[in-house]
Amino acid sequence: MPYILALDQGTSSSRSIVFDETGRIVAQAQREFRQIFPQPGWVEHDPHELWSSQLATAREALALAGLTARDITAIGITNQRETTLLWNRRTGRPLHNAIVWQDRRTEPLCTRLRDEGRADEIRASTGLVIDPYFSGTKLRWLLDHVPGAHLAAAQGELAFGTVDTWLLWQLTGGRVHATDVSNASRTMLFDIRHNQWDRHLLGLLHIPESVLPQVLPSSHVFGETEPDLFGAPIPVAGMAGDQQSALFGQACFTAGLAKNTYGTGCFLLMHTGTQHPISHNGLLTTSAAQTGPTPEFALEGSVFMGGAVVQWLRDGLNAIRGSGEVQGLAESVPDAGGVMFVPAFTGLGAPYWQPDARGAIVGLSRGTTVAHIARAALESIAFQSTALLQAMSRDAVANGGAAVTELRVDGGACVNNLLMQFQADLLGIPVVRPQVTETTALGAAYLAGLATGVWRSREELSAQWRVERRFLPTMARDRAEALMAQWERAVRQTLAV
Ligand code: G3P
Repeated sequence: MPYILALDQGTSSSRSIVFDETGRIVAQAQREFRQIFPQPGWVEHDPHELWSSQLATAREALALAGLTARDITAIGITNQRETTLLWNRRTGRPLHNAIVWQDRRTEPLCTRLRDEGRADEIRASTGLVIDPYFSGTKLRWLLDHVPGAHLAAAQGELAFGTVDTWLLWQLTGGRVHATDVSNASRTMLFDIRHNQWDRHLLGLLHIPESVLPQVLPSSHVFGETEPDLFGAPIPVAGMAGDQQSALFGQACFTAGLAKNTYGTGCFLLMHTGTQHPISHNGLLTTSAAQTGPTPEFALEGSVFMGGAVVQWLRDGLNAIRGSGEVQGLAESVPDAGGVMFVPAFTGLGAPYWQPDARGAIVGLSRGTTVAHIARAALESIAFQSTALLQAMSRDAVANGGAAVTELRVDGGACVNNLLMQFQADLLGIPVVRPQVTETTALGAAYLAGLATGVWRSREELSAQWRVERRFLPTMARDRAEALMAQWERAVRQTLAV
């Protein structure tokens, strides 16, 4: 039986999962690594720790599965996106810690680009808004601040990469310097319409082309691992950024299919096929994982405070002892009793884009208890996701596409049945939870397996993707609409704070 090893390099931990050809999990391993905060607003990772923790979990997962490298048909890589690394091509030594996607140090450069009126050209080519989130300005910061970096880059001595590229470089012993379209699309340097680096933007940011990795489809044999890493070489045959990988792992391959990952934040992506929609609602257009040369796209939006509200109930409010208690507490009351919780702790993302908004709990009465607040906190995850999905549907329809007809869910908080039912009620469409909710890793496995003949087509994968539970909307539409209107009023109140 063929097996695939998926490497999932996330923001807080490295994980490895072995899948069999039916998409079932055979074994998995996970390790956390250090988060480095050199200054307020700065977030870094040690490149060596990213690699060593990833390698350790890969070996551990193989051992737990009782398999050797010869049993593994291919490796798929999926990763935290945008995080930026720069290293010396000859020695392989990083010039600096990795600058993590959450890092805000390049805001001054982004402000300058906005003030110069670059927003429209950057959005047209990359699908992105100008923001420190993306890799381009982080790379420019590294070139500007590491002594000698500009000169070394101009002489072709340096290699830039996001985490996928760094892991591929390590796995192949420095022989392959490549990325995939979905990761490239998060750099703010990549023309997603034509699947190529954008020379004009490279000039604008003073980034020499020689540092860039080759961009390849997400399902592709990128190279082979060094034989001594696992005892025999294994082809690396799939790579995709984690959110696009989850979209693929949810078998969302065609326009209108969407997934929401309920983690610390929520990442909502909708496939738009080969259509390249421009959002009028503050969403991003991004490259979906691709199995061939044809560009495919997705609309993306994120909720900053998703499952993190449950952590706040636990650590900030001491309302629960563990996250598992939240469903019981929320279910102890029939509804939120008119309480609305807007968790704008760090501002509000799409479709509101209000960085200065701050959180609020409104609608309190003498009868309000901590159970109502817990329920309102849970419901806030669904309210925010609904606002995003409605914006996405509006964009899709305005661009001649279709509205979303069901939402596929994954991530830690999707186990919460109360939340999923409320999500379906607000959206008025089915919310579908698959049997395998490790869809990020599964997507990378699918991409690697498609490139190496484990699976032959996307249709085969769609047939294999199984539903565990379908939450159907039961709330009357006018009630759902009234609740959404109440939510929007509460959001407006946070802007006034
Ligand atoms: O864009 C950032 C995203 O890729 C990070 O995902 O799951 O590692 O927090 P995660």
